[in-house]
Amino acid sequence: MLLPKLIVGNWKMNGLAADSQERTQKIIEGAKLIQKSTMVLCPPTTLSAQIGAQIKGSPVKLGAQDCHFEKSGAFTGSISPEMLRNVGCNYVILGHSERRQHDGETNELVAKKARAAHMNGIITIICVGETIAQRAAREAELVVKNQLKHSLPDTATPETTIVAYEPLWAIGTGQTASKNDIVQMHKVIRGLIANIRILYGGSVKSDNAAEILDLPNVDGVLVGGASLKADEFLKIAASAK
Ligand code: PGA
Repeated sequence: MLLPKLIVGNWKMNGLAADSQERTQKIIEGAKLIQKSTMVLCPPTTLSAQIGAQIKGSPVKLGAQDCHFEKSGAFTGSISPEMLRNVGCNYVILGHSERRQHDGETNELVAKKARAAHMNGIITIICVGETIAQRAAREAELVVKNQLKHSLPDTATPETTIVAYEPLWAIGTGQTASKNDIVQMHKVIRGLIANIRILYGGSVKSDNAAEILDLPNVDGVLVGGASLKADEFLKIAASAK
């Protein structure tokens, strides 16, 4: 059976209570008309409980943007998978390139976090992707293969794990990877891990989503900037065939 496409909105560090409530409401309404895809909202954790309550009973799912690997304890500023689960999160994004770059997140740390999330019944969306310099040096495949090898824990299965391919030069730049680049890298990833769902991320918008979602081995998209506008996000979700 063909699974619906997964359309994940990564709100990053954006959103306050009122505007998020309004955006989520519009998305819940719009989701009633969309059959071919499942939408996952990943707001900042300050909004998880609010949005978790709001989406209850709707087809829209809740995700987070990071978690700790421990259950609880002296980890100031951190949120555990159990806490995310407690407010209705079914998904968590891990190893996003912004966290790898700005927060020193390593493959090994990502694997540890992913394992903890899996133990709490949370599906992980593990991000991989090369820089523009690595692509220019023809190292893109090697980099992605290495990230996958070390970021996926022993608990990674098609049920617990989704991989998001996000070339760094395509994130927030308006420059989407070419169809060829996407097809080629998704094929490489699929070759390494059969049956795991693979998302593409990097400047996905309503005017390129249909084309991207139609490519072989693209099981969905991870959307940053364009997920902050309900209409735009719904158009992306509606473009899955
Ligand atoms: P973008 O971000 O859609 O704004 O390029 C994607 C991401 O970082 O997940």
